[in-house]
Amino acid sequence: MEAQNAQRRSYQVVIAATRDMGIGIDMKLPWDLPNEFQFFQDVTSRTSDPRKRNATIMGRKSWEATPLEFRPLPDRLNVVLTRSNCHSIPTDDDNVMVCGSMESALELLAKPPYSFSIEKVFFIGGGELLRHYMNAPSCDAIHLTEVDLTVPCDTFAPRVDTCLYHPWYSSLPVVENGIRYCFNTYVRRKDLIFGSVGKITQY
Ligand SMILES: NC(=O)c1ccc[n+]([C@@H]2O[C@H](COP(=O)([O-])OP(=O)(O)OC[C@H]3O[C@@H](n4cnc5c(N)ncnc54)[C@H](OP(=O)(O)O)[C@@H]3O)[C@@H](O)[C@H]2O)c1
Repeated sequence: MEAQNAQRRSYQVVIAATRDMGIGIDMKLPWDLPNEFQFFQDVTSRTSDPRKRNATIMGRKSWEATPLEFRPLPDRLNVVLTRSNCHSIPTDDDNVMVCGSMESALELLAKPPYSFSIEKVFFIGGGELLRHYMNAPSCDAIHLTEVDLTVPCDTFAPRVDTCLYHPWYSSLPVVENGIRYCFNTYVRRKDLIFGSVGKITQY
């Protein structure tokens, strides 16, 4: 699904959101769903080539919001985006890379050694970056856990643009801690081409 030899890698988004697309409150997740977190761990860790690993790209605040015992996310290259030079992200850790922009991260991941060692690239939030990079041209697929909750949130993701992505997989509902949720995957529509006047034409 990802472009290995392109100048920039493409990526898949993996997030969980409430009905209103709420993803966070007070720098935490608005729920306690260990099995949902395990799904996230599995999707972002799994590789078909055991010699490779995946990359997870996240905003600096999402890095800081990840509990210390889970970061860096094991068995993945953790790419943290920040515009600042003074941060407390450990740059001496082989599993952590700091980048100044999404574009520079995707370019770096398209070059050796990462073009050989990184199988898939996942973008995992948070809200500030999702505003620009969910539904973006380099986003091949969106794994969205739809959490059937209406709770206060201070961080949101955009809705999946169904003109650009079509539903590809939807799980049966799961109930955990009294909360119902579904795993959904949307993939980028291949049946869209740009017409001569720049309009999207659907076949
Ligand atoms: N439910 C989910 O699936 C999910 C997933 C992830 C996060 N979350 C939640 O989301 C919240 C955090 O999200 P957030 O929106 O506050 O922050 P965020 O998007 O994780 O991080 C924002 C930070 O990223 C850096 N950044 C933003 N745009 C950038 C760019 N174009 N280039 C380089 N760096 C850039 C900046 O860091 P500097 O200020 O250092 O420059 C900015 O302050 C938390 O509540 C977390 O729990 C939920």
